Amino acid sequence: MGVQDQYPHVGRDMPSVYDAHHLPHDQAELIRLAERIIAEKFAPGEISRVDRRTNTEEGYTFFDTLGFFKSGFITADVIKRLQSGATALSVGVGDAHLEKLLVEGFDINSSHIMLADRADYMTTEAKYSTSPQVTFDMTEEWPDFEQPFSLILFPESLEVVAFDQAKIKSPKSVWDTVPEPIKQIREKLEEEKPISQEEVAAYLAATDKVKPFLREKVAVIKRALGCLADSGEIRISDTGMPFGTFDTLPYLRAAFYEHEPPLEISANTIVSIKKPSPKKS
Ligand SMILES: C[S@@+](CC[C@H](N)C(=O)[O-])C[C@H]1O[C@@H](n2cnc3c(N)ncnc32)[C@H](O)[C@@H]1O
Repeated sequence: MGVQDQYPHVGRDMPSVYDAHHLPHDQAELIRLAERIIAEKFAPGEISRVDRRTNTEEGYTFFDTLGFFKSGFITADVIKRLQSGATALSVGVGDAHLEKLLVEGFDINSSHIMLADRADYMTTEAKYSTSPQVTFDMTEEWPDFEQPFSLILFPESLEVVAFDQAKIKSPKSVWDTVPEPIKQIREKLEEEKPISQEEVAAYLAATDKVKPFLREKVAVIKRALGCLADSGEIRISDTGMPFGTFDTLPYLRAAFYEHEPPLEISANTIVSIKKPSPKKS
């Protein structure tokens, strides 16, 4: 049995037994590495915290740090970019547990990840972090940053804001009723089966419910694009809400159809919006 097996929560001063710069390409291995780093480098409960507590009167939930690896929001490529000097702005950090893991666990210079949250909600944990901090409301004017960022991250923060802005009081009522009619109609189209009038009506009602919230999401993404460097990427993790990325791809592509230069948008478990590098003349 190895030392780490015997003492999974060894203290911070122990010499590192992993190489945070030798990152596996395979996501499953990266998840295991993150798990090891959390166990070896941090005190129990310091990092991985599933719905640990809420931080504000509005009751925002903090997410499980490893979940960001499990969903593919944080990949070896993202970590490597940050290790090699790319700068990130993380918007809606909460207590910044994910950013702390990246900086302290993966040997990323803390000055490269700027922490952002709404003014009254920056938690004490985030305030004590050595990373630069900024407070602003992502739905309003963004600060004038000196330099654009290579990465803008929304770690489980954009969805919640889009719901607030769209004045959807009960997100549950939406996510309980929206995905099913959309899924049904999509399956029928794929199988070339006939679609009834009721199914069409249910589909239209479902998409109508989602539209105001998608509009708000796009408005925030537009602000983020203004602070994104050429070749930069916006990454959105919204797995907390079941239809965070559900069928949003066509809407997002349509919303940014005329953007110059054309953006590369993908939406699977997480949303990625890439600004291409400018063409050399
Ligand atoms: C669901 S929590 C996620 C916190 C953390 N990133 C995590 O994954 O545990 C959402 C965060 O977004 C922040 N937030 C909510 N509305 C915001 C706004 N309009 N502008 C900036 N941040 C906001 C909240 O204060 C909260 O910290």
